[in-house]
Amino acid sequence: MNFAVFVSGYGSNLQAIIDAVRQGAIKGRLVLVVSDKKDAYALERARKAGIKTLALDPKDFAGREEFDKAVIRQLQKEKIELVVLAGFMRILSEHFIRTYRDKVLNIHPSLLPQFKGAHAIKDAFEAGVKTTGVTVHFVTEELDGGPVVLQEKVEVTPGESVEQLEERIHKVEHRIYPKAIDLFVRGKLKVIGGRVEVLL
Ligand code: GRF
Repeated sequence: MNFAVFVSGYGSNLQAIIDAVRQGAIKGRLVLVVSDKKDAYALERARKAGIKTLALDPKDFAGREEFDKAVIRQLQKEKIELVVLAGFMRILSEHFIRTYRDKVLNIHPSLLPQFKGAHAIKDAFEAGVKTTGVTVHFVTEELDGGPVVLQEKVEVTPGESVEQLEERIHKVEHRIYPKAIDLFVRGKLKVIGGRVEVLL
């Protein structure tokens, strides 16, 4: 199965995915990396790995749907059956979500539905929770909503800094995202009534 990864920034999750594909831990083909930021470091990682990239500037498009339609054209050309959001900081249009219903995964650095939004790690840290974590979920029209695929807890260590917590959360992300992607490409994920069934 062909899949694409969407990025906007550093791309540490992209790197974990590239490595997992190489090691055979994801039995799918990563054929395209899409970015809405032309200078994203993640694009460099893709190029180094010899993966095709598509970097589009939203400013060159009349609106969200026009941007997404340009992306969809490329996805169709490459016969993409799964879209993996990995630090993609842009909201997808309803048109995109309808076109790829139950075929878009996202990773979020909290135990959803807690701490939605762009600053989940800092928000959890500042709230003083003892436990936070990582969620992989399908993308729906609801921001950071959508059926949960995998979750893993991360305990907040007394006295640690937000940076230390962040580092440990990223380590968990890099381990569980490839796992979720592999489950999808092997046809092991089924969305039924807004819940994900993992077929083993
Ligand atoms: C990750 O923390 C991910 O959970 C969130 O954005 C961050 C992306 O980091 N959605 P990177 O670009 O993969 O390093």
